[in-house]
Amino acid sequence: MDKDRLISSSYRPEDDNTEFSLRPKTLREYVGQSSIKESLSIYIQAALERHQSLDHILLYGPPGLGKTTLAGIIAAEMGQSIRITSGPAIARPGDLASILTNLNNGDVLFIDEIHRLSRSVEEVLYPAMEDYALDIMIGKGPTARSIRLDLPQFTLVGATTRAGLLSAPLRDRFGILYRLEMYTNEELAHILSRSSGILNLEYDDEGIIEIASRSRGTPRIANRMLKRVRDYAQIKANGKVDYEVAKKAMDMLNVDELGLDNVDRAMLETMINKFNGGPVGLDTLSAMTGEDPATIEDVYEPYLMQLGFIMRTPRGRIATPGAYKHLGLEEPIDKTKDYGEQLSFEDLL
Ligand SMILES: Nc1ncnc2c1ncn2[C@@H]1O[C@H](COP(=O)(O)OP(=O)(O)OP(=O)(O)O)[C@@H](O)[C@H]1O
Ligand SMILES: [Mg+2]
Repeated sequence: MDKDRLISSSYRPEDDNTEFSLRPKTLREYVGQSSIKESLSIYIQAALERHQSLDHILLYGPPGLGKTTLAGIIAAEMGQSIRITSGPAIARPGDLASILTNLNNGDVLFIDEIHRLSRSVEEVLYPAMEDYALDIMIGKGPTARSIRLDLPQFTLVGATTRAGLLSAPLRDRFGILYRLEMYTNEELAHILSRSSGILNLEYDDEGIIEIASRSRGTPRIANRMLKRVRDYAQIKANGKVDYEVAKKAMDMLNVDELGLDNVDRAMLETMINKFNGGPVGLDTLSAMTGEDPATIEDVYEPYLMQLGFIMRTPRGRIATPGAYKHLGLEEPIDKTKDYGEQLSFEDLL
């Protein structure tokens, strides 16, 4: 399953101790995502000058790109505290009501996996976001009436892997929407050298770049790989993370030069060998690989699409000549032309 893979971008409990210490605390330390940082710092300064809370913000993008980190930074830059919860943790409307009434003016409320809020909980959120108010029903039947309670002026920061999973009324109540992008190898190398410094690791540029280029554009994976390479360096070499050590450690983990592991390769091979390159439907891919369709869409596909190894077409996924080449298979005639207009990364959201 996805969470068992080293290159899984999903959170794993073992990430916790280092993830906390490696997490940047200020916008300046936050690497990459430059257009987000630029506009965000303007909105933060403006809100601070007006002594108002920041507008509600929705962060979306694949796991491990820094949504939770950014939420913490937003609170810190505003000089406010953050309250962290998640969609599945808020089971009933009353749970949300009690969280909201316990906030202080200016607080940031971070709701992770916000697409998993139930309808009835969402409905409590609407007036809270719009008017900082809570509508409570008193009594039952014909005599029932609703009273309105004032709430503190808070900022909601919501995070989701795909904005398309959010209901339209909820999405429309966010004033600021940011899609996090995958990181370039240079940006990942920057993150890795910062992490190496915090972990007191000896390294050289070639070693760091090798780890970066196998990290699927994802800081969480980069930091996790760094720890595995550190172990390898300590036991099998002199402790220094250089090119040889990084390469050997990651080869041993079956993570190839582009960061693909056995599961990615099996997925591409299935498409190529069993379906002649596609198109293959999502459900079929899910059945063939034993992975959940949502995991395929949120975790595997974004990176394989970024590499240009698969394409989404109205009739299903197809493997591109690039995928054949990477797997060392004979390239087919370019089929990508036959399937009409292709869907872009945006259509995934
Ligand atoms: N821009 C960045 N600069 C430096 N480090 C980063 C950056 N973004 C993420 N990281 C690192 O990656 C780790 C994972 O980030 P984070 O937990 O914020 O991801 P996420 O998008 O919330 O993931 P999920 O969707 O699984 O909740 C953090 O511990 C942090 O060390
Ligand atoms: Mg998170």
